[in-house]
Amino acid sequence: MFSGMRDFKRKSDDFIHEYGEGVVRSRLFQSGFRQAHHRVTTVADHSLNVAMASVSMGRVLERMHVRMDMQDLVLGALCHDLGILGRYQKFANSRQCCSGHPKESAAIASTMIDGYDARIDNIIRCHMFPLTPVPPTCREGVIVTLADKYCAVCERMLTFKGRRWKQRNEAFHYSA
Ligand SMILES: [Fe+2]
Ligand SMILES: [Fe+2]
Repeated sequence: MFSGMRDFKRKSDDFIHEYGEGVVRSRLFQSGFRQAHHRVTTVADHSLNVAMASVSMGRVLERMHVRMDMQDLVLGALCHDLGILGRYQKFANSRQCCSGHPKESAAIASTMIDGYDARIDNIIRCHMFPLTPVPPTCREGVIVTLADKYCAVCERMLTFKGRRWKQRNEAFHYSA
């Protein structure tokens, strides 16, 4: 069982490399390692955490024969909070940031991703539901919305896990 869990985690990493390498390697994403998020993490670490959690959930559902677009899932998760980068120049306060960053993230992601489609757009724009009024309409969007809340709680409450995740994410640090 233990080796199975490790194998499961390794494969989640593989999905990030396979589908998200271009986004993760971008100068903008890498700058996210230098902007704090949820007090104990960074925008980039949080985005990787959400991508890992989303892939894990997606793989469980795939085993239950639920069809899943893993590429859109990874890309949506990695980009969902890119609009937060530079938040103090973009938004007057936290409330504006909360409501405005999904749209900003979608605008950024649309310039970064070849084949940016309606599903990725839906994942990103609706990930703050229910704090924003429109729910996601695709299953990948539901997964990222749930993974985002799960990771936010873990990052704020479980600092040990936050550090452990941060160490794991060091494999995704690239020099520009
Ligand atoms: Fe967000
Ligand atoms: Fe988030």
